[in-house]
Amino acid sequence: MDPSGQFDNYQQEAAAAIAAADSADALEQVRVEFLGAKKGRLRDLQSLLGKADKEQRPVLGKQFNEVKTAVTALYDARRAELSAPRASTSGLDITLPGAALPLGNRHPLTQTVEEFKDIMGRFGFTVASGPEIEDEHHNFEALNIPDDHPARDPLDNFYLAAAESAHGGPLLLRSQTSTVQIRVMEQTQPPIRIISLGRVYRPDTMDRTHSCMFHQMEGLMVGESVTMAELKTVLRLFAQTYLGHDVHVRFRPSFFPFTEPSVEVDMSWRDGWLEIGGAGMVDPNVLTAVGYDPEKYSGFAFGMGVERFCMRRHNIPDIREFYTNDVQFLRQF
Ligand code: PHE
Repeated sequence: MDPSGQFDNYQQEAAAAIAAADSADALEQVRVEFLGAKKGRLRDLQSLLGKADKEQRPVLGKQFNEVKTAVTALYDARRAELSAPRASTSGLDITLPGAALPLGNRHPLTQTVEEFKDIMGRFGFTVASGPEIEDEHHNFEALNIPDDHPARDPLDNFYLAAAESAHGGPLLLRSQTSTVQIRVMEQTQPPIRIISLGRVYRPDTMDRTHSCMFHQMEGLMVGESVTMAELKTVLRLFAQTYLGHDVHVRFRPSFFPFTEPSVEVDMSWRDGWLEIGGAGMVDPNVLTAVGYDPEKYSGFAFGMGVERFCMRRHNIPDIREFYTNDVQFLRQF
C-alpha cells in the first residue's frame, strides 16, 4: 500500500467534489466526507501515518499536511463563492436583503369621518346610514321640497335613466344626506340624536372647492324641548373640538325648505369666513310628514361638508386632491 498514492487520490477526488458542489448544503456534505474531524476520508489518511515505517513518517506527515491544507483552501474558496451575492443578468440582485414595504394608511377622508363619529359620539350622537340611490320622496318631498322647487331641476341632479323607485317615481343619486333624517324618523320615535356621514352627488363643475361628489355629515336631534341654542352649542363645540379652540363659528340667516328658521354656518379662516354647511330647526311640515306631532316635538338638523373641515385642518388647497389618489399626497396623512 502506497500512502502517498492515496494522498493524491484523496486530493483529486476532494477537488472534484468541491467543484461539483452547487449549494451550501451540498458543499457541507463534501466537507463532512473529506475534511470531517472525527471520521471521514481525512481521518482514514491520518491513520495510515500511524501504520507507516518510522523513517517514512516525517515525509508522509509533511505530505499529509500539504494535502489537507490544499483541500481546505479549495473548500474555503468554494464556500465564499457560493455565499457571494450573485447579480442576475437583469441587473436585479435577488440576493440582497428585502426592504420593508411601507404600510398603507387610511384615506384622509376616512380618517376625518372616523374622527367626526368619535367627536359626535361623545355628544351622544349615534351613527345612522341611508342609501346613495334615493327616491324623490326621501330626497325632496318629505323634506318639504315641492315639485316646482329649483333644487329638483333635472339639470341640478343626477337622475338615473330608466330606473324606478318602489313608489313608481324616478331614482336619483342623493344630493344631500338630509334624506337620512327622513329615513330615521320614519322608523323611530323621539328622542333622536343621530349623525349620518356619506357621499352626496351634484352636477357641479369641478374646481378647487367643488366636486360633483363630496361628503356630508348630517345631524338630527329631536325631542320634547330641543332649541336652537343647543344647535349652536353642538356645532360650535364640534368645530372647536376638530379644529381647535381658536375657531370661531358664525350663523347667518338663510332658507332651507326643511328647516325653519334656517341658518348658514361659517367658520373663521385666515382673515375671513368659510361656509361649512346649513342648519336649522326641523320644519313642522317635515315632522308631520313622518307622523310626529309638531306641537309636542321639536328638533334641529344640520348638514356639514366633510372635505371642507379636512381641508381647513390640513391646509389642503384643492378638493380634487382627495379623489385623484396620488400616493404622494395620501402618504402625508
Ligand atoms: N341639506 C342641506 C344642504 O345640503 C344642508 C342642511 C342640512 C340644511 C340640514 C339644514 C338642515 O345644503
